[in-house]
Amino acid sequence: MHSQSSMRAVAPLFHLFNHRAAMSNKKELLWASRFNEPFDEGALKFSSSVHVDGKLFREDIQGSIAHATMLGEEGIITAEDSRQICDGLKEIEKEIESGALVPQWEDEDIHTVIENRLKEKIGAVAGKLHSGRSRNDQVATDTRLYMRTKVNELKGALGALMETLVDKAEAYKNSIIFGYTHLQRAQPISAGHYYLAYFNMFKRDRERLNDLMQRVNISPLGAAAFSGSTLPLNAKRSAELLGFDSIFSNSIDAVSDRDILIEFISACSITMMHLSRFCEDIILWSSYEFGYLEISDSFSTGSSIMPQKKNADIAELIRGKTGRVYGDLMAMLTIMKGLPLSYNRDMQEDKPPLFDSAETAIESVTLFNRMLQHTRIKEDRLKELTAKDLSLATEIAEYLVKKDIPFRDAHRITGKIVSWSIENATPLPNITLEKYREFEAAFDESIFTALTPEASITSKKSHGSCSFESVEKQIAEAKELL
Ligand code: ARG
Repeated sequence: MHSQSSMRAVAPLFHLFNHRAAMSNKKELLWASRFNEPFDEGALKFSSSVHVDGKLFREDIQGSIAHATMLGEEGIITAEDSRQICDGLKEIEKEIESGALVPQWEDEDIHTVIENRLKEKIGAVAGKLHSGRSRNDQVATDTRLYMRTKVNELKGALGALMETLVDKAEAYKNSIIFGYTHLQRAQPISAGHYYLAYFNMFKRDRERLNDLMQRVNISPLGAAAFSGSTLPLNAKRSAELLGFDSIFSNSIDAVSDRDILIEFISACSITMMHLSRFCEDIILWSSYEFGYLEISDSFSTGSSIMPQKKNADIAELIRGKTGRVYGDLMAMLTIMKGLPLSYNRDMQEDKPPLFDSAETAIESVTLFNRMLQHTRIKEDRLKELTAKDLSLATEIAEYLVKKDIPFRDAHRITGKIVSWSIENATPLPNITLEKYREFEAAFDESIFTALTPEASITSKKSHGSCSFESVEKQIAEAKELL
């Protein structure tokens, strides 16, 4: 290795007096020349982020190639140097991909791994790559490139889930299930209406990602450490080479802003919250007590001791992972809350929460979608249950409203009927007309046609309701959107 004199390395204590010798088989740190003692090995191990940011090697190389290309085009380095640097970087990408080069923690971070390897390959020219650049704008660039990919992956996963939901809504549009409030049976609804409620949540999640993409896709490259550079950098050109839509407007903000990570993790958190609610329904509904839904064997687990068990572990895991993603959001907000401008090393701690939430959200949406495809509503059981349930009481009240009885009175009268029905163990449709008329003279034969779940659903007239007609319309709109 050349330029050993400027190397700072980790050396055992007994080598302190023979600095250069001790460094011969150690890694070079990028900032070592200013120091007279080697960096403490424990301190380096503690501060190294290679095990985390090693994941960004493709983004780092992509960013470096764009920077080196711009340097060459602007005449800041020669075209030949630029070409050598770019060729070397492309080879390093292949080396890391194939496992020929395994990033080591001694290199402090992935940026150093790559630059040190480049120096081994092309010599002193490698040192020109960092002209007008700092690891501060470099890591901000890498992170934005990573987020761009993950935002698109999450959008794709959400789109696939939305398609499944439309399929489910279509398949079960005429099936009747209970709608709940307070986890108490409320009214019969079309199962299609239920699935489309979730469709709307995931649609908003996708809109949120589209919106934040406008802020993700801005290049911070060219901000250097935080104040810019005396070199005639062309930030627009490197941004264009990286496919960014625009460039930063303030170099301090460019290196020290982590809003977009927080926004992204919060978007992931909202998606996880939606999934978790859906999982909760699936877990409850697949229980023996509810028995509304069945998850196929391929997405169920058993018990090591109770042979009869069939558990909804995938749904439970997604519900559990939701807690972890919320933790990532809280971690990120807390990391940032006390930081003075501009870059602080604290910010290196942004990557574990970012990677964790992005990967967890994408995996969870993908797995949830596959599990959902392997569920089926137990229509026969639900038909039986909904037919003899009290959840038609609202229909009785609205029936009386149509007979010109004020809703408040109708509600009170119906409450009395429900109470009688419970005391006498007689389902609402089985009560005789004579009995109904004892409560209110306005009842006639037509009450019995209103007292079926189908009639209840069909007769819903308001916008966006659970009626079969409304569900049909919603399905058509959803298909149009997809
Ligand atoms: N590993 C660092 C990070 O992820 C890179 C930036 C280092 N910059 C510095 N001034 N020490 O944040």
